Parts: sequence; structure tokens; C-alpha cells
Amino acid sequence: MRRSASPNIISLLASMAVAIFSTAIFLFITAIFHLKINYSVYIINIFIIFLVTLLLFRFVLVRFIYSKIKIIYKTIGKPLKFQNEVKEGSKNVLKTVERDVAEWAINKNKQIRELRKMEQYRKEFVGNVSHELKTPIFNAQGYIETVLDSDLDDPAFIKQYLEKANSNIERLETIVTDLLEISKFESGRIELNKEAFDLVKLIKKVFFQYQHIAQQQKISLKCHSEENAVFVFGDSKRIMQVLENLISNSIKYGKENGHTDIYFHDLEDQYLVEIVDDGPGISSEHLPRLFERFYRADKSRNRKINGTGLGLSIVKNIIEAHEQTINVRSELENGTTFSFTLQKYIPE
Ligand SMILES: Nc1ncnc2c1ncn2[C@@H]1O[C@H](COP(=O)(O)OP(=O)(O)OP(=O)(O)O)[C@@H](O)[C@H]1O
Ligand SMILES: [Mg+2]
Repeated sequence: MRRSASPNIISLLASMAVAIFSTAIFLFITAIFHLKINYSVYIINIFIIFLVTLLLFRFVLVRFIYSKIKIIYKTIGKPLKFQNEVKEGSKNVLKTVERDVAEWAINKNKQIRELRKMEQYRKEFVGNVSHELKTPIFNAQGYIETVLDSDLDDPAFIKQYLEKANSNIERLETIVTDLLEISKFESGRIELNKEAFDLVKLIKKVFFQYQHIAQQQKISLKCHSEENAVFVFGDSKRIMQVLENLISNSIKYGKENGHTDIYFHDLEDQYLVEIVDDGPGISSEHLPRLFERFYRADKSRNRKINGTGLGLSIVKNIIEAHEQTINVRSELENGTTFSFTLQKYIPE
């Protein structure tokens, strides 16, 4: 790669050129006017003229560059920390400027890449919202139009189609409610009602809720706790939402005759809760984006399964609002484990 000369070298070369030029003028004048100067005085004169011009020009140049540098530093928004060095004409100054500008350029490039990614994400998001809303709207519209075009004497037919239209409108409502909830979390407008509660009891409640669907898939649900009760401190309604999505996901995306197991690990101030399934798993390329809004791994496999890809985004927001963390580990054919932490309840 070709590298252009640094401003430091350029200023030195320019000063030397001017010094050589002024020495040449001195030589020229002494030659033209046949000045008779002692040989040693002559050499000393040449030396002094060269040196003085070199230093003087370099000083002027550096001061000039310094005024330009000030503008550069204003542009890159960094404090000018080497003012004294510049005034003393230090050679390192220009190197420092070069390094600072290079650093600034790297940061700007990083920001541009991030903005592009955000822009790409925003475009995808708008596309996803439109797509997800369009489907139930068109379906409901289709059912209502069929009813309107039909022979209105058949109440059973009308009821059946209106019910179908209604279930699509309910789906629409769920998506809009989920989106509003995510946006409230993201703008910090959700307040948590924290209290002490028993996590084991809550898990059993959610198991009961999903028992029927799990039985249909022949999936067993098990909570492995050494204690009868595990007390944590948080918003129980919100944590119930987290459990509902993680447990329903483990059934929805699990395999027939499979298992969903919940484990607790006692950390010092927290519990680590693991929801483990032995389903088909998620390939590693999807894992970094899994908690994004509308992200669904393996779209072809999921086509038959109802879902909008908003569940995990809400889950992450709830856990982060509790100032806790959530992670996922998964491998194709080897099941999936979601693990999150919760603050332990320690009675005073
Ligand atoms: N336990 C799991 N096993 C395999 N894939 C999973 C599991 N949990 C989540 N996924 C994948 O992650 C995607 C996102 O899950 P998420 O809960 O956000 O959305 P969803 O279940 O599709 O829809 P929603 O929860 O909004 O009804 C799912 O579509 C699925 O591809
Ligand atoms: Mg889900």
C-alpha cells in the first residue's frame, strides 16, 4: 500500500529547501560582488544562514500548521492536549495529530457501519410489521366479504365466518399489544411491581396452563427443585410472561415424546433458572439475532407453527428491566437451553 509522507517530513523537507535556497542566494551574492571574505568566516556564514533559515522557516511552518491543527481538532471534537508541545515546535506533534485523526476516522467508520446496520434493521422491521399486520387484516376482510356476498339466511354459516374473522382480529390485537409493550419497555415507560414470590409455584401454574398442549405433543414438563419453594424478588406477573413464552416455545418447537426441564442454580445473590428442551435446536447463525423483534429461526420449519417472533423480545425486555440477564445455548439436533437470572429474596 502506498503511504503519503507525513506532515512532519513535509515541513522538514520544505524548511530544508528554503534553507538551501537562501544559502544559494548568499553564495550567488558573494560571487557576483566578488566579496573577499576570510575562508573560515565564509564557511561559518554559510552554516549560520542555512541553520537560521531552516529553524526560522520550520518554526513559522509549525505555527502555521498549528493553526490548521486547531481546526482539525475542532472538527474531530477532541481537546487539543499538546498545545505546549506545539509551541515548543516538537516534532512529535504532527505524529500525534496523525494518530488522533486516524483514531477519529476509525471511530467514525464504526459509527457509520452501526448506523447502516440500524438502517437495515429499521427497514426489515417496517417490512416485518407490515407483513405481520397484513395477513390477519386480509383474512378478516376475506371472511367478512364472504358473509356479505352470501345468502344471509344461513345463520350457522354466517356465525362460522364471523368467528374466523374475529380470531384474525384477535391476532391483530395481540401483535399490536406486543409491539406497544416492547416500545414501552424500550422507552423505559414500564414500571415493575416488585415483590417476593415463590418461583416454583409460578412455574407449576404455567405448567398447568400448557399441560394440555404438552400432552398433545407427548412432551413431559418437569421442575427440578431441591427446595419446595424458591423465593425471588421481582414482578411476578412479568416473570410469568417470561415463563409462559419460554415454556410454550419449548413445547411449540420441541419434538414429540420430548422433555422440558427447569433447573435452578443457586448463585450468591441470584438464582439462575434454566429451561431446557431436547427439541431440534437452533443453528448457531440464528442465535445472535434470536431476541430481535420478529426474528424467527428456520422460517421453513416454523411456517406451520403460529408465532410472530415477538415473544423473546418481550422476554429479554422484562429480564433486563429487572437488571438481570438472559442467554440462549443451542445446537441443531441437541435441544435448546434458555437461562436467565433473578434476584434472590433475602428476608431482613
Ligand atoms: N425452544 C426452542 N427451540 C427451537 N427454536 C426456538 C425455541 N424457542 C424459540 N425458538 C426460535 O426462536 C424464534 C423466536 O421465538 P419467539 O418466542 O420470539 O417468537 P415466536 O414463538 O415465533 O412467536 P411469539 O412468541 O411472538 O408468539 C421462534 O420462531 C423459533 O424459531
Ligand atoms: Mg414464542
